[in-house]
Amino acid sequence: MTLVIIQKLIVKNVRNLNFIEVNPSLHNWFIGENGAGKTNILEAVQLACSSRSFRSLKSRDYINWHAKECVLFAELLSYSKKCISLAVSKSIDGAVILKMNGELVSSASQVAEILPVQVIVPDTSHLIDSGPSYRRKFIDWGVFHVEHKFADYWKTFNKLLRQRNTLLKQKKLEIKLLAVWDKAYVDFAVKLDQARRAYMEGFLTFLETKQYDLLFGKPIVFEFYSGWPTEMSLESMLKKSYDADKHKGLTHYGPHRSDLKIHSNGRNIQQCFSRGQKKLLYVWLKLMQVEYLQQKMARACVCLLDDLVAELDIKHRKFIYNILQKLDVQVFATAVEPDPILDKLNNSDIQMFHVKQGELVPLAKHSGIKPVQAVV
Ligand SMILES: Nc1ncnc2c1ncn2[C@@H]1O[C@H](COP(=O)(O)OP(=O)(O)O)[C@@H](O)[C@H]1O
Ligand SMILES: [Mg+2]
Repeated sequence: MTLVIIQKLIVKNVRNLNFIEVNPSLHNWFIGENGAGKTNILEAVQLACSSRSFRSLKSRDYINWHAKECVLFAELLSYSKKCISLAVSKSIDGAVILKMNGELVSSASQVAEILPVQVIVPDTSHLIDSGPSYRRKFIDWGVFHVEHKFADYWKTFNKLLRQRNTLLKQKKLEIKLLAVWDKAYVDFAVKLDQARRAYMEGFLTFLETKQYDLLFGKPIVFEFYSGWPTEMSLESMLKKSYDADKHKGLTHYGPHRSDLKIHSNGRNIQQCFSRGQKKLLYVWLKLMQVEYLQQKMARACVCLLDDLVAELDIKHRKFIYNILQKLDVQVFATAVEPDPILDKLNNSDIQMFHVKQGELVPLAKHSGIKPVQAVV
């Protein structure tokens, strides 16, 4: 496996992090009071590796209030000793500069491909309790990292969907024109669906090897839904729903309606799992995605775990830490207090930091990975 880790991270003007420079270990824990800047650090890691933030689409939100731009630098090291430097700068006027090994890069997805970042946040209601868009994001994170054309399919499909909806809203709709758009719409919808379906078939088969019924004490059934009944072609579904589409001015069938349905004993998981069980299911699913990516693509990820401790009992925290250790991925985790059970784990490469008003104080340090020179 090609393990990639962040061996150096420099953050300037991301929220309350005016300036931090850190040489992370394999497992890094950020401890501090509420509002200290712990989640901001995780946000900065994601920004440095993918130029995206899991908290906001607008750079204005995460650039420090007193600054005009934020700058991030990450030095990545693979175990084959290959070194990659990533630099991201974002201005409040929306300008973005991305560099890889000192060279300008035009698209964020080129950067995001290098080191997948798995974000695990405390609000599990997103994946389990909210609408399907969060579950689509979950699926698409995996598809993006195994099918490199996926980001392009997705962009084109979304454009076609918007065009189709605009046409549907027109008072005098030209049926011939709609038929032309529908052909392209179906083409890309099917490409997108095939990529998702291939990923989900592999992923769900992989999950079956994990005996998850024992873990949750209940049978769980995962079912991928394409966004239209697949016993019908999408073309015929569009024809069938034409009146409803026209009436609402939107398209009812397609991959924008896809979902991962989760049931237990014939009931939707939302109704029959406790909050703690939902949290465990959410964290476990996200970590299984990381493991699947390792197995399928021999790729490493960075895991960002925000406030993992809340709502998980000792037994299940141990279970999660054990998965993390076996995965051998770099971890950035936050907590209000150090988790006492971490001491009992056999992991020598844990570094703890105290976060105080956007500044970092190392608390305990273990041997890290020796840095090598990067091209900046
Ligand atoms: N754009 C910004 N500029 C400066 N500070 C910010 C900005 N956005 C949020 N903050 C500050 O960041 C802090 C919250 O950081 P956060 O990482 O969410 O805290 P926690 O340690 O609880 O995870 C708050 O003090 C908030 O005022
Ligand atoms: Mg936080």
